[in-house]
Amino acid sequence: MAKAKEVFIGAIDQGTTSTRFIIYDHQARPIGSHQVEFTQFYPEAGWVEHEPMEILESVRVCMAKALDKATADGHNVDSGLKAIGLTNQRETTVLWSKSTGCPLYNAIVWMDARTSSVCRKLEKELPGGKTHFLDAVGLPISTYFSAVKLLWMMENVDAVKEAIKKGDALFGTIDTWLIWNLTGGVNGGLHVTDVSNASRTMLMNLKTLDWDKPTLETLGIPAEILPKIVSNSEIIGKIGKGWPITGIPISGCLGDQHAAMLGQACKKGEAKSTYGTGAFILMNTGEEVVKSKHGLLSTLAFKLGPKAPTNYALEGSIAIAGAAVQWLRDSLGIISSASEIEELALQVNSTGGVYFVPAFNGLFAPWWRDDARGVCIGITRFTSKAHIARAVLESMCFQVKDVLDSMQKDAVEKGVIKDAKSEFLLRVDGGATVNNLLMQIQADLLGSPVIRPADIETTALGAAFAAGLAIGVFKEEEIFDSGERTKTSTTFKPVLNEEFRKKKAESWCRAVERTFNLADLSL
Ligand SMILES: Nc1ncnc2c1ncn2[C@@H]1O[C@H](COP(=O)(O)OP(=O)(O)OP(=O)(O)O)[C@@H](O)[C@H]1O
Ligand SMILES: [Mg+2]
Repeated sequence: MAKAKEVFIGAIDQGTTSTRFIIYDHQARPIGSHQVEFTQFYPEAGWVEHEPMEILESVRVCMAKALDKATADGHNVDSGLKAIGLTNQRETTVLWSKSTGCPLYNAIVWMDARTSSVCRKLEKELPGGKTHFLDAVGLPISTYFSAVKLLWMMENVDAVKEAIKKGDALFGTIDTWLIWNLTGGVNGGLHVTDVSNASRTMLMNLKTLDWDKPTLETLGIPAEILPKIVSNSEIIGKIGKGWPITGIPISGCLGDQHAAMLGQACKKGEAKSTYGTGAFILMNTGEEVVKSKHGLLSTLAFKLGPKAPTNYALEGSIAIAGAAVQWLRDSLGIISSASEIEELALQVNSTGGVYFVPAFNGLFAPWWRDDARGVCIGITRFTSKAHIARAVLESMCFQVKDVLDSMQKDAVEKGVIKDAKSEFLLRVDGGATVNNLLMQIQADLLGSPVIRPADIETTALGAAFAAGLAIGVFKEEEIFDSGERTKTSTTFKPVLNEEFRKKKAESWCRAVERTFNLADLSL
């Protein structure tokens, strides 16, 4: 018989390659979930798009199936579900018509590099070049952020130009697109985003947490098309008709990396690395905005309520991590599923001198080179696909190491932590962390331990925490008390000889340098 008093929180996790819906009980244990992959469009080299309607459909299917599964397992979800949290791939940009609800163009995905020329032009024209907006918004000018994707659509898509002229265009990141549709769409849908997603647009002032007027003016972006910014944990609105769940409040919303940080309960000075399509390392820097001197971004960590203090973060973003594994599977065909890479890489005990740098769309942190493209070097007649597979795993870990080296320098210089080596413990999560070899390589290349929680879906968990917090199901002390979770986590300790580790890092740096200037951006 169903248990009458059960209380549940649902989390929508709309990632880059898949959507999930996970239902948690009041102790934050997952009791039912469903995941679907959706289509990636690559219309030209360096371009990546998603179909916004397909994303909506994926959310609908995941909700319905997860509810069915939980109900079939005897949980009284129908009456027990109290709130929904939402987390999403960040920066990905959608423009749609307020009157019809139809997208005006496909969503331009965060890793899409078509805006190189938009960025070059801005850098050339504006004082300070790449860093022109850094003080206000915490970000350098880069193809990565929503503002330049929006500018590209404003310049190149007739439907967008027209809708803006008629006052019929709405801009949003994926959270905004989903919330508008979930809360009624053309029938009064709410046009909102949260502080963490807004902090990735290159348009939000990091201190006022509002759209930055001078930035909007400089870029010629009309404020009317932008959503209202809310905190990460508050009742935003209720889910409208036509969804598998109706009348339930959406009470938490965070970008996926911020949600993972909350799911990992990162306090000031603590950092996490999430290994999904890309890899994203964020360190909570407390209530101060820390400006990086080593190529990292200043961004929001989270703001857990309209009146709650704002926590900021330093972030190092890596565009291609798990996506390189998918490339081995889908483009080279040397594995047939992502999980096969571990077995293949374990057939050899080194890469045999091969270094692979997956700069498919340029390199993000700490290099910020949109002219970089992928390289694979050190190949001999001896090289096998097992060596390549191992080099791909190493490339994920070396990129994380580069970011962490920069992060530790910034954090020590700004007094966020005292001593990088003695205090540092990397919390890891995300789909690729099921790979034990990957985790061991990461600990070896860092020369410090990494800790993996029993539940690696911390992105969805963070969204559930934020939603549950707003309605009193979870308390902040419980979320940040990581004692229980530490008991069930796995720690990977480094075993690699220090001298060998340094040598490998030097070879990796040489490989990275070879990726520069490979793209022809004049085209
Ligand atoms: N055993 C494995 N070893 C290495 N990589 C793996 C393994 N299993 C999955 N991956 C990679 O992990 C990624 C999927 O992780 P996850 O499900 O967290 O991503 P996502 O949520 O769809 O995307 P994102 O979080 O980046 O928006 C894929 O890129 C896949 O190639
Ligand atoms: Mg994800």
